[in-house]
Amino acid sequence: MDNFAFVIHPLNPKQDVARKYPHLAKILPTPLIHFFSRFWPPVYLSHVTGVRSEATGKEIEGWLLACPFTARQMLRLPPQTAYKKIVQTGHLAQRLGARILGLGAFTSVVGDGGVTIARRLNIPVTTGRSLTVAVAVEALQGAARRKGIRPERATAAVVGATGSIGSACAELLAPGVAELVLIGRRESHLAQVRARAEAAGVRLVRTSTHIEDIRRADMVLTATSAARPIIRPQHLKHGAVVCDVARPRDVSPQVARERDDVLLIDGGVVDVPGEVDFGFDFGLPPGKAYACMAETMVLALEGRYESYSLGKQIRGEEAREIAQLAHKHGFRISG
Ligand SMILES: NC(=O)c1ccc[n+]([C@@H]2O[C@H](COP(=O)([O-])OP(=O)(O)OC[C@H]3O[C@@H](n4cnc5c(N)ncnc54)[C@H](OP(=O)(O)O)[C@@H]3O)[C@@H](O)[C@H]2O)c1
Repeated sequence: MDNFAFVIHPLNPKQDVARKYPHLAKILPTPLIHFFSRFWPPVYLSHVTGVRSEATGKEIEGWLLACPFTARQMLRLPPQTAYKKIVQTGHLAQRLGARILGLGAFTSVVGDGGVTIARRLNIPVTTGRSLTVAVAVEALQGAARRKGIRPERATAAVVGATGSIGSACAELLAPGVAELVLIGRRESHLAQVRARAEAAGVRLVRTSTHIEDIRRADMVLTATSAARPIIRPQHLKHGAVVCDVARPRDVSPQVARERDDVLLIDGGVVDVPGEVDFGFDFGLPPGKAYACMAETMVLALEGRYESYSLGKQIRGEEAREIAQLAHKHGFRISG
């Protein structure tokens, strides 16, 4: 049977460790979880069944594996240390017979975006970012329309615009909005994304290093690796639509509590075709997956055992291609 393996890791240490080790999570304080996770080996989580293509009827199986590092550790440790543990997790996937490996959340952010990891394994690797980009942009546009915002007349902001996901989202959003605001930390990098958006046909583009400048935006897409909330209620325009792709999330929980006028959507979540059983609760409702997981599944359904979405630059064509294949097999943006 065609198959895949997918690597996840704890985003919220206490809560996520409790999903696998409830007793341990009860007794260990968070700093100790961070400490011990450095020495913890990769963890087999579950066997995934029931993913079935709507187009071909083909069914695939998979495995969920955990790389024990938290997002904070992956940001702080030297990339080589993170690579080592992710590659060990990849070896576990190989032993299970996996034919392609997907990298979730910060396992794809760290270092060179999967290139080194792919080089050290004998199976192809995907970061899943192409489908994440396509799904996030489509979800934001759809949510805006449902809220009565016409994207072609609206101002859209991309936060983390210099990142891999952010810059590709800027390219895809560019031709369909009246104005694009690119928010990043470094002007020199923002200039490159501005050029990319201009080449894609944006009408008006501004760049800024101040998060406060999203206040002019009707639509906001955020995808930073800050690993903590950076968007607060006071930053958002009245009636804005916000798509948060980041894991851990960029948008503070205060926004949902204090801003009834704002529509906040989870970027990069899809409904999986068939009757999928993940065999493990990784935090989404049943039947739903992150788009990066879905990209791994789509490649397995296609029998395309080749590395995809590697490196820091995600190309618009790759995002469009994988979105088309995902749609063909029956993956749908989650309501
Ligand atoms: N939902 C999904 O399916 C899915 C899939 C894959 C990834 N993700 C998530 O998407 C996010 C971005 O991933 P990526 O691959 O695009 O990462 P990336 O290429 O490393 O880009 C991260 C961006 O965040 C910016 N940034 C980092 N810390 C920041 C801070 N404190 N304040 C403001 N900006 C900050 C970086 O700015 P500089 O350029 O200045 O460093 C960079 O532009 C991550 O949270 C990841 O977990 C989600």
